[in-house]
Amino acid sequence: MKSVIGERWFFYLTSVFGAMFVFVLNFSNVMAQDKRCTSVSAKTCELAKNLKRGINMGNMLDAPNEGDWGARLDPAYVEIVKGHFQTVRIPVRWSNNASLDSRAEIEPWFFKRVDRVVDDFLSQGFYVILDLHHYNQLYGGQLNYKEKEVSPDVVERRFYNMWKQIAKRYQDRSDRLIFEPLNEPQGSITALKWEKMFAKVLKIIRKTNPDRTVMMGPVSWNSVTALPSLRLPRTERNVIVTVHTYEPFEFTHQGMSWTPWKETGVTCCNFLQKRKITQSLDKAVEWSERKGYPIYLGEFGSHSAGDMASRAEYTQFVRQELEKRDINWAFWEFASTFGMYDSEKKQWRAPLKKALLGD
Ligand code: BGC
Repeated sequence: MKSVIGERWFFYLTSVFGAMFVFVLNFSNVMAQDKRCTSVSAKTCELAKNLKRGINMGNMLDAPNEGDWGARLDPAYVEIVKGHFQTVRIPVRWSNNASLDSRAEIEPWFFKRVDRVVDDFLSQGFYVILDLHHYNQLYGGQLNYKEKEVSPDVVERRFYNMWKQIAKRYQDRSDRLIFEPLNEPQGSITALKWEKMFAKVLKIIRKTNPDRTVMMGPVSWNSVTALPSLRLPRTERNVIVTVHTYEPFEFTHQGMSWTPWKETGVTCCNFLQKRKITQSLDKAVEWSERKGYPIYLGEFGSHSAGDMASRAEYTQFVRQELEKRDINWAFWEFASTFGMYDSEKKQWRAPLKKALLGD
């Protein structure tokens, strides 16, 4: 009899301690997540967590004209990426498709084109990040390939006026649509200037979209190293912070005409290359938890000049390191020179798909 009572007590005690242990473990996980959300609303925190895996439909609507860079946003892509990705990022070159004066009136046919793409993805349950890409005159540097030049005194005003129109046009779309006002601020856009520009563009967006989630990243091409200089409007509660990482650059950008890394034959990933990647991700997490903004990795990927075995190793390594750190991400990109899908053969590049999606 005694030993039966003893066994019961033992059973009760281990169950109670077990339950407490599980509770503490879960609670500390929740706390770790929410440290990244103390500066944002519950809605934006939730949305940031739901972005999960994403793909950039790059070099399509951000080319001077769709198709100029060999890739078009084929409506069939919606079905192809469905089930593999929860989010699509759609880079768009609005500035080439708007009047060249300060009003920057966006051409109706172009708006309709973007509507179709946005709505196709939203209707299939995707989160959609809509950005403004390749308006290089705004950075004060060299014009992008086939970029339409405008008078210097209207460059910045055009930026705000484009967003006034974009924000109004999409004001009634699902909360799953996120605006990203500017891809990779750089050049003459210093941290101080970006702080002012972002506050101004956000004010314009907020007139028609009072609490839509907006994504923005630091200067220097959205690099992690520029995070410490990033300042966000104090009263704003619906912002996700995005960073891009292409470390190790001499591998990811080898053979590209516009970079210093014209040599090819660089492989990946040795210990030092891996450390560069993880150090950068650790810094991003540290910043996010200290400042309370959700962090998002909006671009990573490698140019097709690298050998496929290295590209697959790089892709898998970055993806796994991101997921270990609970950082949601979007791969650069779907079907162009960094792409994971061969649009001519109409098939996935199997090693990249496996590296990114695990199947
Ligand atoms: C640019 C692309 C470029 C990619 C990798 C993107 O932000 O818009 O043109 O290929 O980064 O460098």
